Amino acid sequence: MQNNTGSMILGTGVSIPPKVLTNGDLEKIVDTSDEWIQTRTGMQVRHIVDDKLNNSDLASEAAQNALQAAGVAAEEIDTIVVATVTGDVTFPSTACYVQDKIGAINAAAFDIQAACSGFIFGLGIADSFINTGQGKKILVIGSEVLTRIVDWKDRSTCVLFGDAAGAAVIGPSNGDGRGILATFMKTDGRLTELLCMPGGGSKFPAEVALRENLNNIKMEGPEVFKAAVRAMGDAAMHIMEKAGISAEDIDLMIPHQANKRIIDATARRMKLPAEKVYVNLQDYGNTSAASIPVALDEAKDKGLLKEGDVCVMVAFGGGFTWGSAAIRI
Ligand code: ACO
Repeated sequence: MQNNTGSMILGTGVSIPPKVLTNGDLEKIVDTSDEWIQTRTGMQVRHIVDDKLNNSDLASEAAQNALQAAGVAAEEIDTIVVATVTGDVTFPSTACYVQDKIGAINAAAFDIQAACSGFIFGLGIADSFINTGQGKKILVIGSEVLTRIVDWKDRSTCVLFGDAAGAAVIGPSNGDGRGILATFMKTDGRLTELLCMPGGGSKFPAEVALRENLNNIKMEGPEVFKAAVRAMGDAAMHIMEKAGISAEDIDLMIPHQANKRIIDATARRMKLPAEKVYVNLQDYGNTSAASIPVALDEAKDKGLLKEGDVCVMVAFGGGFTWGSAAIRI
């Protein structure tokens, strides 16, 4: 196994809005059923924001929890990276609001946009920043309020998504072999239209978007499903090769939580038994960039990841984007 790690996760934290939306609640909104949702996706409940909570509130709470877990003060943070497709406003970045809310006065702050792969892309950036001396203490946050951009009349998408934030503090490793072993990122921009929100940007500004119903998530589910199975499998195989690890070396795989059937297919390709695969989509739905950091924090909390364990994270999302990371805890 490679041992060239220069950065490590110092602490993680989450923010989960208290309000819950069950499959039963969704039955009252669109023509769907608990049975359909569970069979096709594995989802049971998701958490959603109320009118008062915004993306930067969730992101800031997750960041504060991660800072506390890492024993790092907000002033020590030199870089804040927020991965999101549901930022508070078009600009400035949600990371700017987070910087202000948590008092990280010495940080440069910016957002990245890689849909559900956003946290993995952020981890790759943080790892590179630390390895090149650009940063020393970096907050990577995946935060989404997807329930604000779903079409509540479209049963094929509105049942899938939830709101949450997860954060990690990344810092230099201490040379004992623990830390980020490898990261991998990939994009295929030929397939943008299969999963997107066309409205609200400069091409279709808010007024046009509202008139033409473009201000919500559009997804060709079955096409995205096929691409996700292929790309998640590829990302998993790639990271094992890059980090020099085999399936036997992996203690836990944390996949993006979009669909239980996609996760099962990825695990099969990796030849991983079910007990080595973390699944929590039944409790949160698909929270896009937040799904992996929330699962990572939860798995650590449950004692499923101990010091020295190897964890592989695999993501896929709109763009299409996909990526993976291997870490020794
Ligand atoms: N309730 C009941 N019936 C439904 C629902 C619903 N909520 N949604 C769709 N249906 C119906 C369809 O109308 C269709 O009916 P028909 O056969 O009469 O035409 C039937 O169910 C089957 O629909 P499919 O879309 O073919 O169902 P599928 O098995 O593909 O499941 C799903 C749909 C869950 C969306 C799946 O395709 C999927 O998970 N896709 C990938 C999602 C994903 O990975 N997204 C990536 C990340 S998201 C991001 O980046 C923001």
